[in-house]
Amino acid sequence: MTNSKLTISRRSELLVQSEIRNMSIECDAMGGINLSQGVCDMDVPEIVKKGAHDAIEAGYNFYTRYDGLPEIREAIARKCESFNHLKVDPEKNVIVSGGATGAFYSACLALLNDGDEVIIFEPYYGYHINTLAAAGAVPVFVRMHPPDWTFSLQALEAVITPHTKAIMINTPANPCGKVFSQAELDLLADFCIRHDLFIFTDEIYEYFVYDKHKHISPATDPRIQDRTITISGYSKAYSITGWRIGYCLCDAKWKETIGFINDLVYVCAPSPLQMGVVSGINHLSEEYYQQISHRFGAIRDQLCSTLTDIGLTPFVPQGAYYILADVSKIAGKDGKDRAMNLLRQTGVATVPGNAFYHDAMGDNFVRFCFGKDEKVIDQACAKLSKIKL
Ligand SMILES: Cc1ncc(COP(=O)(O)O)c(C=O)c1O
Repeated sequence: MTNSKLTISRRSELLVQSEIRNMSIECDAMGGINLSQGVCDMDVPEIVKKGAHDAIEAGYNFYTRYDGLPEIREAIARKCESFNHLKVDPEKNVIVSGGATGAFYSACLALLNDGDEVIIFEPYYGYHINTLAAAGAVPVFVRMHPPDWTFSLQALEAVITPHTKAIMINTPANPCGKVFSQAELDLLADFCIRHDLFIFTDEIYEYFVYDKHKHISPATDPRIQDRTITISGYSKAYSITGWRIGYCLCDAKWKETIGFINDLVYVCAPSPLQMGVVSGINHLSEEYYQQISHRFGAIRDQLCSTLTDIGLTPFVPQGAYYILADVSKIAGKDGKDRAMNLLRQTGVATVPGNAFYHDAMGDNFVRFCFGKDEKVIDQACAKLSKIKL
């Protein structure tokens, strides 16, 4: 045993690497179809690209204010009013950050202390857990149950301690596709008020909603508006994951501190790319957003019926572009084993369910990403149909 000081930080030791990268490597090695990565095949709207090009030519090449250009904060405020039914002041309530990821990290560093507990629904999105851990907070898990990913108030009450400071939701959710209903949000609002908690809500998939389901932002409830930290962005809606444009909406009393952290970590979101997003918000019609739901709703149906036909059990998602499926009929001791068997037999890569659970609950699940071009899904379905269970 050496006593060298050349070690990684305790904070880094807490971070969990997901299997997504490994599955992609295995998939590439065998020329398979990669349904593991959460990347969407949609084209970037021309008007969004043009907005960014034009902005570079027009001289938007410098640091912007810590919370983003006035143009994007104003555009986001208009979008929030028309789409989310939320009144936000571009000056007091909006911080543009390095993607939704940057917005959430800034909010966590600004609002959470070491040891604060944050209730998080399981299955979860791994970045949420790692972001909380990096901020020194402790995730506390409450299970949602398939097929509709329901949860109980008793389960929430059971995990409350004097250290509980916040609850986090993701609606529509990655990986299970849950879209929280008004009744569920009402229950959560009461719960947050009763226990004096913040509510973090990641709404990055807000335009990917299917069937009769509706995206509802918790901040529309005036009783909890001041304790709600809304995280969203344009990575998914405009298929610009590499641009890093996301935002945080919060009450004026939190804005400066979250903005200060955002400044410290990211300085600002890329300025010409902020203008690309402004161009999209200002010019794309409602039909653009509606066709996202129609298109991916149909792709979801195709992949779910193939999975059912071959004897697996997909939990049909209400939103986002992932299907969590019970694949316990595929041999294997855990999610990784099953995902590898599926990849070897069919050439389709998925993410082992263990990436979304802190315990063995994920052993029987894998996640399929269907944010893909129709042709890719056709090929994936043809390959999946060859499986022998
Ligand atoms: C739930 C969720 N939030 C946030 C992100 C990342 O968003 P951004 O690219 O804006 O950081 C993802 C990406 O997969 C996600 O699934």
